Amino acid sequence: MHAPEILPSVLACDLARLADEVAPLAGVTRTLHFDVMDGRYVDNISFGQPVLGALRAAWPGDLDVHLMIVDPSRYADEFVAGGATSVAFHPEVEDDPAALVARLRAAGVRVGVGLRPEHPLERVADLLPHVDTLLLMTVNPGFAGQAFLTEVLPKIGEAHALRRSAGLTFRIQVDGGVTAATVVDAAAAGADWFVAGTSVFAAEDRAGAAEDLRARAAAAMRAD
Ligand code: DX5
Ligand code: ZN
Repeated sequence: MHAPEILPSVLACDLARLADEVAPLAGVTRTLHFDVMDGRYVDNISFGQPVLGALRAAWPGDLDVHLMIVDPSRYADEFVAGGATSVAFHPEVEDDPAALVARLRAAGVRVGVGLRPEHPLERVADLLPHVDTLLLMTVNPGFAGQAFLTEVLPKIGEAHALRRSAGLTFRIQVDGGVTAATVVDAAAAGADWFVAGTSVFAAEDRAGAAEDLRARAAAAMRAD
């Protein structure tokens, strides 16, 4: 449905060298993934608006902000103002998810809704006609470097089937544990947006690693 895209996650890079870390990726990827964690929605605290500002100054392309925070509507506008081009949030910690989707769209950014590995698609069914991206966590949110949870694969397939049967166009984003092997499984199941932290930033040749993942996804992805 959408051409496959790899989104390197800066959670896995050397933050002391943020600008230098992402620079080699500018020719091969359009979008970086930026994980905001508050120590409440997940057991970890990562970074917020000031670091997004530093990244905005260093990166010419798109910035996909993933809010793993409670009460996302409290901070969403600040991330839009700070340069996000897409913002995803987890609806179970938002009082009025539909209103936040509408507000973000009105602000001119793409919008995603996220599901933890154990949460079924039904939880976001009402929102899917109104969002740009369905973010399916393929690890338990909170940390980079975890193993891909293969039990999420059927949900990727369900999302793909639902998208087609309902005539919708949202991207199916997978986030967590994407490697040269699991990118193939996720693409074959129906995903088209692939977040990759460790498998890009732990590689000697980051641009090469990202391009290799993209090529594997393109070869494996469903034609329908
Ligand atoms: C996990 C984050 C992911 C993470 C992915 O909570 O949402 O975006 O950075 O990192 P890897 O690819 O190392 O699993
Ligand atoms: Zn993420």
